[in-house]
Amino acid sequence: MKKLFLVALVALMGLQAGAQNVSVSKARFQKGDDKSWAKPEMNDVSWEEIDITKNWDKQGYVINNGYGWYRIHVNIPSSLLKGADQQKVVIFNLPKADDADECYLNGKLIGHTGGMPDSKGGYHSAWSAPRRYAVDAKKGGILWDKDNVIAVRVYNSGEPGGLFDNPLNISLPNAIEGLSLHFTDVNDGQAHCDVELSNAYPLTTNGTLVVTVTDRETGAKIGGLTKKLSPKQGKPARVSVPYDKKKSCMLTATYTDAKSGKTINRKLPLKYILTPAAPSSPRFNGAPLFGVRPNSPVIYRFPVSGERPMKFTCANLPAGLNLSESDGVLSGKIDHSCELTFTVTAENAKGKAQQDFTLKVGDRMIALTPPMGWNSWNCWALSVSQEKVMSSAQALIDKGLADYGYCYMNIDDGWEAEERNPDGTIAVNEKFPSMKALGDWLHARGLKFGIYSSPGDYTCGGYLGSIDHEQQDAESYNSWGVDYLKYDWCGYGREHAKERDKGVASYVRPYLLMQKYLREQPRDIFYSLCQYGMAKVWEWGTFVDANSWRTTGDINDSWRSMFDIGFRQQVGLAPYAGPGHWNDPDMLIVGKVGWSSNLRDSRLTPDEQYTHITLWTLLASNMLIGCDIAQMDDFTLNLLCNNEVNAVNQDVLGKQADRISKDGDIEVWARPLSDGSQAIGIFNVGNEDKKIDLKKYVSPNLTIRDLWRQKNLSEGELNCTIPTHGCKYIKVK
Ligand code: GAL
Repeated sequence: MKKLFLVALVALMGLQAGAQNVSVSKARFQKGDDKSWAKPEMNDVSWEEIDITKNWDKQGYVINNGYGWYRIHVNIPSSLLKGADQQKVVIFNLPKADDADECYLNGKLIGHTGGMPDSKGGYHSAWSAPRRYAVDAKKGGILWDKDNVIAVRVYNSGEPGGLFDNPLNISLPNAIEGLSLHFTDVNDGQAHCDVELSNAYPLTTNGTLVVTVTDRETGAKIGGLTKKLSPKQGKPARVSVPYDKKKSCMLTATYTDAKSGKTINRKLPLKYILTPAAPSSPRFNGAPLFGVRPNSPVIYRFPVSGERPMKFTCANLPAGLNLSESDGVLSGKIDHSCELTFTVTAENAKGKAQQDFTLKVGDRMIALTPPMGWNSWNCWALSVSQEKVMSSAQALIDKGLADYGYCYMNIDDGWEAEERNPDGTIAVNEKFPSMKALGDWLHARGLKFGIYSSPGDYTCGGYLGSIDHEQQDAESYNSWGVDYLKYDWCGYGREHAKERDKGVASYVRPYLLMQKYLREQPRDIFYSLCQYGMAKVWEWGTFVDANSWRTTGDINDSWRSMFDIGFRQQVGLAPYAGPGHWNDPDMLIVGKVGWSSNLRDSRLTPDEQYTHITLWTLLASNMLIGCDIAQMDDFTLNLLCNNEVNAVNQDVLGKQADRISKDGDIEVWARPLSDGSQAIGIFNVGNEDKKIDLKKYVSPNLTIRDLWRQKNLSEGELNCTIPTHGCKYIKVK
C-alpha cells in the first residue's frame, strides 16, 4: 500500500528516477511566508500543484515584493549511491529562483542564494545564478529510500518571480563535475591570462592542468605551462600564463583528475593588438574640419597624439578664435556664416606636424562628422555619478583617447532628482553635486558635456522626463553648458498610447517640440534621438534637425546582439546618413561593461571586437565608448585608437557603408571616401574560420591597404584566413 502511494506521488510530482540521478519538475505551492512550512511533518495536501521550471507569472501567480513556498516530496533511492564514483556528497541542483531562495531538506537549511529582505545584508537578487546545494550523504539528513521533503522559500521583488528553468536534480557527482575553468585575459603591460580552476563541491581531486598557447595563424605552440593542482571548494587553484600580446593566439587549458583520468577543458582566443604604436612625434588624428552655428561657443580639442609637452600654434588664426598653446583647444565665437581656413602646428621634443583646418560656420553645422566620446550607460547604468563621469573624463585624457577625437562625455539615465524644483525646473539627485561645475570642468579640458532625458513623464530607468517642461529643460541644459542631448522615447509610450492616430506624425511630434527649444539655445547641442527606429526614424530624423537617431533597440555584449544590430538591421540605411545627421546603431560594447558596478570584460571575442569597430566605423556611426575608461587595457585602447580605422568613420564625405555582397557567411560592406578611395570590410559571420582570396573582391592592381595593421598588402598576402566572426578591413585606391 505504502509502495503504491509512493509510486502515485512520484507520478504526481513528475519525478523520474534513474540509476544516476533523480529529477523532479512538480511541487506543491503556497503563497505567503511561514518558516514552519519548512518542517517535514507539515500537512501540505491542500497546497496547489505547480511546475517548478516555469515562473510564477506563467502560471497565474502575481507576487511582487513577497514570498511563496514550494514543497517537493521525493523518494531518494539508495541505488543512487551504487553507480556513483563517490558516496560522500549528494548535490541538490535546484531550478533558478527569481530573486532569492532558501532551501530546506527535511527541515534543515541546506543552502541559500541571493538575499531576502529580512536576511543579514538585506535584499539582493540572484535570479540568474545556478543553485547547487551539497549535502553529506550520511550526515546531511537524507532519508534514503523514504519520503524526503525539500521545502524552498522564494522571495521575489518584481515579476516574473518564483522557481524556473531546470527541474530539481539530485545526483552524486564525480570529482570533475563541480570543476570549472575561468579565464582573465589581461592585455596590459606584460600580457598574461590568469586561469582559475574552481571546485563547487566538497570533493577532493588531485590532477594536472596543462595550458598551451598556440599561434592561430601557424598552429605552432608558442607558450604554456603544466602544473599539478588540487582545487578545493572555496579555494580555487590559479596559474598565470604570459603571452605575446601582438599575436593572435589560442589558449587551451585541460585538467585531468589523476584518479579517474577524467578531464575538463576550455579554450579562449586571446586578445591581440594589430594597431601599430603611434609615433612619439606629433600626429593629427582628427578630421580636418569642424562645424559650429553662428554665435555658438566653439569648443574643439585638436586630437593630436605624441609625447607631451606639446605646443600648439597657428600663424593665421581668424579673429574671434583662440587656440590654447599647451593643449590645443580651439575656442571663441564667430557671429556669421562662413568658412574659415587656417593651419595649426603641433610641436614637441620629437618633431612637428601641421594640419590645414576648416571651421565651417552655419545653421546646420553640428556634427559634420560622427560624434566620438563616451556614454555612461553600458558600464554604470543607473549608478552613474558626477565622480564617475569626471574620473572617466580624466582617464580619457590620460590614456590618450582625447588625442584620437573622443570628446563627448555623456551622462545617460540616472542623474535626475525625484521631484522638480518648485519653479518647475529640473533638479539633479545627490550623485551630481553641480552640473554647471561639471560642464565647466569638462570644457576647461576641451571636452564636451552630454545629458539624457525623455519626452515622456519618466525615463526608462524611472527618473523624471521632460514632458510639459521642454523649454525649461532646454534652458537648464544651456545654463549647465550641455553640448549633447540623448532624448529617449521610453515613458512617452504612455502618452503615445492615448493618440487616436498613431501615424508618423505622432512619433515626430515630441521630437519636434524639443528641437524647437534646443535650437533656441545660444550653444550647439547635438540632438540624439533614441526611439529604437520606430516609424522609420531615418526617414524623418533630419526634419526634426536631429544629429543622429538610434535605428534599433539596445545593444549588449553578445555576438547575437551585435550581429543583429550591426549586420542585419543596418542594411539599406546608408542613404539616410550624411554630414550632420547619422544613423546610430547604439554604443560600443568593448572594454569593461556590465550595466552596474559589477563590471566584466566584454563577452565579445577579440575577433568579434575587431568586427564591431570595423563595422561601426564603416557605418559612420556615433562612436560612443561604453566602458569604464579608467580600467581600459591595451587591447581596447588600441582597438579604439587606430588613426587609419577612425579616419574612415570621420571621413568628411560622410557616406555610410552599405552591404555590397553576401556570399554564404562572407559579407562585404563598403563606403567611398573623400580621397577617392574605398573602405571595405570583409566579414566572416559564420562559425568556422574561412580561407578567402581578396582578389575575389578587389583587383590586385590597386593599392590594398590593411587598415588595422596599417600596411599595404603584397600579392602573396591576398590569400588569407578570416577567423570565425572576424574580418579584414582594407582601403583600396
Ligand atoms: C533605453 C536606451 C538605453 C539607455 C536606457 C536608460 O531606452 O535605449 O540606451 O539610455 O534607456 O534607461
